[in-house]
Amino acid sequence: MPTTIHLIAAARPTFMKVAPLYHALVRENWCSASIVHTGQHYDTNMSDAFFLDLRLPEPAYHLEIGSGTHAEQTGRTMIAYEAVCLRDRPDTIIVVGDVNATAACALVGAKLCIPVIHLEAGLRSRDRSMPEEINRLVTDAISDLLWTPSEDADENLKAEGIPQDRIERVGNIMLDAFELVRDKIEGADVAGELGLTSQKYGVVTLHRPSNVDDVTELAALTDCIVRIAQATPVVFAIHPRTAGRLNEFGLHDRLVRAPGVHLLEPMNYIRFMALVRTAGFVITDSGGIQEETTYLGIPCLTLRETTERPITITLGSNRLCRREHLINSVNDVLVGRWVRGQRPPLWDGNTAG
Ligand code: UD1
Repeated sequence: MPTTIHLIAAARPTFMKVAPLYHALVRENWCSASIVHTGQHYDTNMSDAFFLDLRLPEPAYHLEIGSGTHAEQTGRTMIAYEAVCLRDRPDTIIVVGDVNATAACALVGAKLCIPVIHLEAGLRSRDRSMPEEINRLVTDAISDLLWTPSEDADENLKAEGIPQDRIERVGNIMLDAFELVRDKIEGADVAGELGLTSQKYGVVTLHRPSNVDDVTELAALTDCIVRIAQATPVVFAIHPRTAGRLNEFGLHDRLVRAPGVHLLEPMNYIRFMALVRTAGFVITDSGGIQEETTYLGIPCLTLRETTERPITITLGSNRLCRREHLINSVNDVLVGRWVRGQRPPLWDGNTAG
């Protein structure tokens, strides 16, 4: 009997990590891999579009958890996934990243004594006000095998007392997803469709509660984006959480009216990466985009005080940026005062292989 493996997909950033591994595992005879979608993200453009772009099949299980508070999402995922495990009893569970489903499904596996592997282990922002940091700590503490992307992640785990034989450095799986569909990314001229010239525009993504849930902060960020767009066009692909807050705080119209601001719905993977690939710079608070811009050598301004991905700063093209310094930092990019950096070791698109 082949080893049965569950791959846990849940929210947008997990799909790009699951896909390359799924495609690598289905080629193997010794195992049978199936995808479990917890349903944390459910809109077509937050979920189905990624399955299509990354050539993923229908999930074997869809738990349809949906939105809610952290406890609701985590608890509902645990209850639903435990039932699946009791019925299906997989030999191994692979959880990826740091979303609520990552910790929830790791907990289910650990308590049922099913071996759990965490892909993208060891990242630490040391900011426990971030829900993802709690998810990372919990998941790493209870997983049997920790697949890390970089040396700093190994060091974090060792410092927490995790024995070396549970740690394996594998590289950065996100970049495998890019290579999986590179041809399509390079074939999509999203910037051209928007009337933009390669390198002569910025891309903005924001969704962290610390940036978008507070009216004063989001209003100040909105003003920054409007001012930056007076110098160079910006494309703002708005996450549903952010769209909700912009409407609630009465800020949406300010962006709609601003010259040079292109507002878009969340985009599918291929079109979004096409837009980033030819951008002059990116402003973001995402984790994955810090890595993708480092891979592509695109200046990235990360609107956060900490990052769990420090190698994107020490080696890559990323820089942490306070909102007060955002406009000056964009000016630095525009006048060429920016290091494009290099790719970290093992970030080569071959992690799954
Ligand atoms: C989640 C992850 C975060 C990841 C992000 C990527 C956690 C703790 N957070 O944050 O790490 O960077 O996904 O997007 O797991 N919504 C929709 N449609 C959807 C999904 C969400 O409208 O398909 C709206 C709902 O109003 C929901 C809100 O967005 O309440 C936030 O979604 P949620 O999944 O709770 O968190 P994210 O901010 O997306």
